[in-house]
Amino acid sequence: MAQLVNTDYPLKAVAVCILFSFIYIFYDICTSVGINYEGDITISNQKSKRSSHERNPKYILEWAKRRGKIVYPTIKCSDNCIFTRDKGRFDGDYTKFDAIIFNEDILSTNERPIKRDPSQIYIFSTLESSYTVPACEIHDDDYFNWTFTYRLDSDIVWSYFQVRSLKGQIVAPRVSVTWKQNNHPVKKKIRYILKRKNKAAAWLVSHCRADSLRDDYLTRLQEHLFHYSLKIDVYGDCSKRKCPNNACGYMIRKDYYFYMAFENSFADDYVTEKILHGYENYAVPIVYGGANYSRFLPPGSYINAREIHPYNLAFKMYQAIKNREIYLKYFKWTNLYTITSEVKPHPLCEVCKRLHNMEGVYPARKYFRLWWNRLNGMKWCLSNEFWNETSNVNIDVRTLCKLWLRKNTATIRKVVLHGQPMRALHTPQYCLQ
Ligand SMILES: *[C@@H]1O[C@H](CO)[C@@H](O)[C@H](O)[C@H]1NC(C)=O
Ligand SMILES: *[C@@H]1O[C@H](CO)[C@@H](O)[C@H](O)[C@H]1NC(C)=O
Ligand SMILES: *[C@@H]1O[C@H](CO)[C@@H](O)[C@H](O)[C@H]1NC(C)=O
Repeated sequence: MAQLVNTDYPLKAVAVCILFSFIYIFYDICTSVGINYEGDITISNQKSKRSSHERNPKYILEWAKRRGKIVYPTIKCSDNCIFTRDKGRFDGDYTKFDAIIFNEDILSTNERPIKRDPSQIYIFSTLESSYTVPACEIHDDDYFNWTFTYRLDSDIVWSYFQVRSLKGQIVAPRVSVTWKQNNHPVKKKIRYILKRKNKAAAWLVSHCRADSLRDDYLTRLQEHLFHYSLKIDVYGDCSKRKCPNNACGYMIRKDYYFYMAFENSFADDYVTEKILHGYENYAVPIVYGGANYSRFLPPGSYINAREIHPYNLAFKMYQAIKNREIYLKYFKWTNLYTITSEVKPHPLCEVCKRLHNMEGVYPARKYFRLWWNRLNGMKWCLSNEFWNETSNVNIDVRTLCKLWLRKNTATIRKVVLHGQPMRALHTPQYCLQ
């Protein structure tokens, strides 16, 4: 709440605000100027009219290819910024914006601003994995000044969720986290919820065949669970099963011991809201993805399927379901932390703050593609035809550069013969060095 209260207010007003801050209406009176221009513009301005050192707003354009897609929620920041998707503001002169945020669509289009002012900040932003939206074209290099993604090495991180201490301090995701342990009993309220569970594991899935081979793992796991008379119930577009009354969360909370939080790709740091289906519903998440999960989630609160053979995982699940003490241990984190999809302060406010506090120059990331795709990620820049032929080959960047540089290899010829060029048109710069 402290975040929301402007320091420029007289002390008395601040006290009043804090006092009544739990009443939303008062919060509104205290902080919002609440001006709204054309539909999709978000005003983030809490400066009081009495404020003596009000700063000029920063104008931030969201360069969306698909109009009408609501990407950014209405938010309020303690700094003054105007986020807009109205390219017509400033009579179509994009150089007048302090920053332009490009989402992943920019990687598959040539529609870019024609003129660029050196004082502007171009920001690459996405919540999709680099496997799904690889950067393949040379003009993606040396273009974005800041990165704003779920990756922990982004200039500004936009996480899917936050782990906070009970006092509200942000603990994770962080590159380095010191997790606390405790031996207090799990709260009665939670134990009561856990007591009624009666089914092994649920999995909600819409993307049926994913790259991380998660389906194959699941098939193996099902086979082993079968021996314990347990199974994973699959819900969603990939199965005929639907959650009763469409209330999947309620169903997981009521019935399931475990929740399969399998990511659709092994990209670094890619831990999505899937884990929340588990945590929010008191079902232990079984995770599977490319992240180092110790940077994201309290140890002992989940099982990492990538580190454990399906045979052993099936036994572990069986054990926890049979032995209440073992199962309860997975909930010890609730004595120390909360895990929530509500990320505070809003990552866009962080962008706003940085724009106000800028000093010096921020050269664009020279090898953006290499940074974003990482080594194995470059393989997604090859055409689908290529993958049809050789999908078992694990291509790293060296192999890929060889393909580009020795354009007479059989593979390349095959690709060309199919009349399907590689998605990347130019040899990547780093292959030439
Ligand atoms: C995972 O992250 C932790 C904390 O940063 C680190 O100590 C550990 O070495 C990492 N593990 C791997 C496999 O990279
Ligand atoms: C952003 O990057 C471009 C390209 O490197 C550069 O010309 C521009 O000055 C940078 N912007 C800032 C504010 O440093
Ligand atoms: C892959 O090959 C199969 C069989 O030859 C064909 O039906 C399919 O369309 C191909 N897929 C792609 C993406 O080219």
